[in-house]
Amino acid sequence: MDHQIVLDTAVEAARAAGALALEHRSRPLIVMQKGYRDYVTEADIAAQRLIVDMARERFPTHGIIAEEEGGAVSAESNTHWIIDPIDGTSNYEFGIPAWCISIGVAQGDEPQVAVIYDPVHDELFTAIAGHGSLLNGKPLQANTTPELSNTILSLDWCRSGDMRRSALTVLSRLAPEVRSVRAIGSAALAVAWIAAGRLDVYFNLNLKIWDIAASALILHEAGGRTSSFEGQPFSLGDAQTWQLASNGVVHDALIDLLQTDML
Ligand code: IPD
Ligand code: CA
Ligand code: CA
Repeated sequence: MDHQIVLDTAVEAARAAGALALEHRSRPLIVMQKGYRDYVTEADIAAQRLIVDMARERFPTHGIIAEEEGGAVSAESNTHWIIDPIDGTSNYEFGIPAWCISIGVAQGDEPQVAVIYDPVHDELFTAIAGHGSLLNGKPLQANTTPELSNTILSLDWCRSGDMRRSALTVLSRLAPEVRSVRAIGSAALAVAWIAAGRLDVYFNLNLKIWDIAASALILHEAGGRTSSFEGQPFSLGDAQTWQLASNGVVHDALIDLLQTDML
């Protein structure tokens, strides 16, 4: 696979999907409920179709895993495009300017290429494995501050009430130790923001592969870490390892704090 050609296509698709979503946002939206506390807009579906069509046309041998319309649109392949057409759909629907298009391309369990595009602010996060990550062409480096007390922690809320109670348990352990706490409402954007030094820590108990495939690579390439709450390192093949993301420097301290029988 030529990483640069794949990246160029993913950028083109993310920018086009972002423009489409902005255009839909300027008129009344059709919103459908697809599950408990789970909604999809016509823009999510149209943006996904645009990205999928472009990926399939340019790379017919690649597989596709996408959030909407039943998930996989797949050729049997070791290389997969992993697509969240709008991450932060509730923000998008309510007009909160924190949502993005997320496209990761992985070979097996290894993310190789990542694009996260925030069309409201025209911010493009990109990464190629082993070559660092960029924001609008400029290299990214996660914060290197070693003190947990000077970090900004973020989290998002799962849909199930039980998981929210578990998130509150994690929060009750971490929040007293950090400088402040935020909830952004887009997992992919929050993790990319750690890469950009805007946040330091993120946790979520129920991420899906399309929330994390691109953002994890962008964060790792900027010096950050992702793991389970027990410290098991990130693997795209194991959802348990998508729970905790950080600037890297404070990661072990976070895991130490969580190693109790409270979880
Ligand atoms: C959601 C967002 C949200 C997170 C959820 C995700 P969606 O993705 O990333 O911040 O808390 O777990 O499902 O549904 O907006 O693509
Ligand atoms: Ca998502
Ligand atoms: Ca989505």
